[in-house]
Amino acid sequence: MLRKNKRSMNLFDVYPLFDINIVKGKGCHVWDEQGQEYLDLYGGHAVISIGHAHPHYVEMISNQVATLGFYSNSVINKIQQQVAERLGRISGYEDYSLFLINSGAEANENALKLASFHNGRTRVLSAQKAFHGRTSLAVEVTANPNIIAPINANNHATYLPLNDLQAWVAEIEKGDVCAVIVECIQGVGGIRMATPEFLEGLREACDRTDTVLICDEIQCGYGRSGKFFAHQHLGVKPDMITVAKGIANGFPMGGVLISPKYKAIYGQLGTTFGGNHLACAAALAVMDVMEQEDLVANAARVGEYLMTELKQIPQIKEVRGQGLMIGMEFEHPIKQLRLKLLKEQHVFTGVSGTNVIRLLPPLCLSMDEAKEFITRLKAVL
Ligand SMILES: Cc1ncc(COP(=O)(O)O)c(C=O)c1O
Repeated sequence: MLRKNKRSMNLFDVYPLFDINIVKGKGCHVWDEQGQEYLDLYGGHAVISIGHAHPHYVEMISNQVATLGFYSNSVINKIQQQVAERLGRISGYEDYSLFLINSGAEANENALKLASFHNGRTRVLSAQKAFHGRTSLAVEVTANPNIIAPINANNHATYLPLNDLQAWVAEIEKGDVCAVIVECIQGVGGIRMATPEFLEGLREACDRTDTVLICDEIQCGYGRSGKFFAHQHLGVKPDMITVAKGIANGFPMGGVLISPKYKAIYGQLGTTFGGNHLACAAALAVMDVMEQEDLVANAARVGEYLMTELKQIPQIKEVRGQGLMIGMEFEHPIKQLRLKLLKEQHVFTGVSGTNVIRLLPPLCLSMDEAKEFITRLKAVL
């Protein structure tokens, strides 16, 4: 006789969850299983770029999965080539190459690996408060001891204050630094921006010492800042640019844009799922919509409106950001305020640390939706 299992498998409990089951999305709105509608100023953690369930996106993925969902990287994949060509054109990096993987951490992992293959070095400089992911090297260059397991603590990383150019240059000039990795707008770190002087100074020091300059555009990139890449506000070209999150609007995908300085060698990098047909269909749909609906300009316009309005609210200590990547810092912890926004006003927002509310809406947020957010925010302040 079969004995009935008393227990069913649990999920490994690593996420503190809101008691809300989101079952549907459209544009900048999501709905829970009771049919309650929410305004989405969080974009599922900066992932939803063109809006939930965009019809063109649905059509492209549906057609692709009905035709060919997956085949391996051992054969030509013309959709991958289309993604590279389109991305090169719309980002202004036509002379760079693209390596595709499945997540942000993998993008940084591969960028750092390629940098080390290039110059043979093993030290990486990264910024305090930066976040670069949770896999071995990506987490090691993330200055948060709580998420670095002993097996990842291998003395590769030196953490320095963002924008303290002197400190970074002093380390780079030692000649043993493999790469520097920077988020030009720190996301998890509380929407802190790199200055043009800082990035220019890094560029010069990296050029002098054959150190690889990597910009992590996983959260701030792909149109969110009001330019295609956040570093394009600073007028400097990195050697490698890592992307993920919004690039396929929720389909898991990451990429590394690689300067022509670096030559590809068969077998050095590889992946089973990276750049698969479905992911590429999603990525093409995202770029179609970004161009057709001029979403980069929309992020700049609506972001500027939000920043101007938020700066007039006396309860907010500081407003930081660019485009639709905005941090509102308060004098006090924001946990209750964020909960009120969610439960009473039905608005999803993000958080950084204890005192900062982070806004990362879909890039299609309209002026009316932005106004609606300001009204709902004021109602709970
Ligand atoms: C700047 C930055 N880099 C890397 C990552 C890691 O991306 P993923 O969670 O897709 O591995 C994140 C995720 O939040 C991020 O914000």
